[in-house]
Parts: sequence; C-alpha cells; structure tokens
Amino acid sequence: MSALPGSAEGTAVTGLDSSPVDASPETLAELPPLTEQARAEAREIIARYPEPRSALLPMLHLVQSYQGYVSPDGVALCAEELGITKAEVGAVATFYTMYKRRPTGRHLVSVCTNTLCSVLGGRRIFDAVAADLGVHHDETAPDGSITLEHAECLAACDYAPVVTVDYEFYDQQDVGSARALVAALRRGEKPAPTRGAPLSDFRGISRQLAGFSQYGDAAATAAAVDTEGAIGPTLAGVRLAAERGESAPFLPAADRPPAGGAGEPRETVRPHGRSGDTPGKEAADARVRAADTPAEKAGAAGSHPDAPEPSRRSLADKDDGTDTPAGTGPGTSGQGPAASPPQQNRKG
Ligand code: FES
Repeated sequence: MSALPGSAEGTAVTGLDSSPVDASPETLAELPPLTEQARAEAREIIARYPEPRSALLPMLHLVQSYQGYVSPDGVALCAEELGITKAEVGAVATFYTMYKRRPTGRHLVSVCTNTLCSVLGGRRIFDAVAADLGVHHDETAPDGSITLEHAECLAACDYAPVVTVDYEFYDQQDVGSARALVAALRRGEKPAPTRGAPLSDFRGISRQLAGFSQYGDAAATAAAVDTEGAIGPTLAGVRLAAERGESAPFLPAADRPPAGGAGEPRETVRPHGRSGDTPGKEAADARVRAADTPAEKAGAAGSHPDAPEPSRRSLADKDDGTDTPAGTGPGTSGQGPAASPPQQNRKG
C-alpha cells in the first residue's frame, strides 16, 4: 500500500498495483488544467446514471482525457462531484490498469506478452520496441511520444502477436513491423490500425471512453472512417473443418427443435450400455443413427471413437505455429524480414 499523493488525508489506498500517483512538481507544472468545462462534463456523466458513484469509471477516463493520467487534481474532482472520499477514488483508479498513475506519452503502445502472443514473438516485439524507446514497462520515452506497456491477453489471439496503440489493433505483428509502427508514431504519423477506428491519441481515446466524441466537429467525425478488417484468421478453423468434413459435436435431439418445426419432440438418445460396447461408443452409434442431415451424419461419424484419423492431420502438425529462434540484433527475431512500414492513415 502507499499513500495517494494529493490526498489531504494522506490516506493509504489499496489495489493490486498500488504504485503512487506521480505528483512531482515538474509533472504538475506541465499539466493542462482541469477546466470548468471538465467539471461540467463530469456532471454530465454523473447524470447518465441512477447512482452517482456509478459514473466513476468514465469520469476517470475524462480526467485522463484532460491530463493524460489520473492526477491528484482529477482524484479530487471525482471525489468532490461524487461525494466520496479520495481514498475511494484512489482504490478504483489503482485497481484497473487502464487508469494511469503517471503522465502518459502522446500514444500508449501495448504489446501483448500473454501466452499465445509470446509464443509467436510478442516478447521479442516488446524487447525490441523497449530497446528502441529506451524504456521499460510502464515508462514513457524521453521525447514524450510513447508510453510502453506489456499487456495481458488483448482478446485477439487469432491475430497474434498483437500490438495496440491507444487501444486500436495492429494485428499479426513481428519485430520489424512493430518497430516501424513505433518509429512512425514518433515522427508524428498515425498509421492506420489493421481494423476498426482510426488512430487518435491517448487523450482522444480517453475522451471517447468517457462517452464524448473525441473529434472536434462534424467534418472530423465524418472523416474518421473505420478500417475494414479482414476476418481471415477468425474463420480459419471453420474453413479447415469444412475441408476436412468435420462439424461441431452432435447436439442430442431433445435439445433441438423438431425438424420442420412441427410434431412431437424427438426422443432423447440415451446409451444403455447393453450391447457390450462402452457407453461412449454406444452413445456415438446412437448419434450417427439419429443424425438427420448429411452434415450431421458426417459430424457424428467423424467424432465416433472408431473414426479414422483425418488424412490431413498428421504428427507434423504439431510443429505448426511454434516459435522460431531469436536473432541477436534489433529486428533479427527469426520471424523473417522486417515488414514494410505500416500504411499511412488519411489523417496522418
Ligand atoms: S494472447 Fe495475445 S491477444 Fe490473446
């Protein structure tokens, strides 16, 4: 635990990560103020909820949209407006990793180093970008351009290894493409994400998370067209199953509506264990018998214990998708040559 700077009470806060809020004089001197407009917007957020304190999460994003992190002044504003203590605000702010305890750079770069991304090179991406920026986790480059963090699973494992910038996705990165992305950001460019909304910056996305438009006017909003994302990796399993004639496990008849939508529900298929086969095999036999359509029959037959191994599945498959040896220098990760620099965004 640690005291929350800026709290008059000096109250200790609890949270999984209780590193202190940065309230150094240099930091505070550079902060843009929390204006009356910020306070008015905080009240607008509160008005959206039946219980005022339910507004705390978006209010913390609002504070970040003005000041780049949850500052002591921001903690005080939330506490005053919600009628709760600064310690209560701090307890929430220190629990969630999206609330920053130190000023962030213009962009927040998050590299997934969770299991799947790590296996496919996420850790090497993080190390290479950290070396380029001269920072470690949760630190900001000296030029203020980028705060780097490693992230837990970003819920895009089918596009691993994944990097996000201000929570926008850059899929299937390697060391070369991630270094090029970060270099472009440092030059002030905004490479288009692989999918979804165009890139803005950390304060812009924080404003959006607070429930306000991050764009200045209608023209800017209209220009912010989402990138059309390809969903190839998401559908890879479906395509492979179709090629192999595989389908989802059979659903017992009692759990499905009757074929044709009329008549009595079909009898549930229950194995009796009387045929001398194992109950599992009897159940599989019953599933094959009860299947209505060719696809169901194929699925039931394919999952039968006696079914032969699909011809295209072999021991060699075990090598699919595993890591490749790392090199020793920047960009020599063993993931192949560096990719071309990311495509430039029309806003760039
Ligand atoms: S492990 Fe990286 S997105 Fe899931």
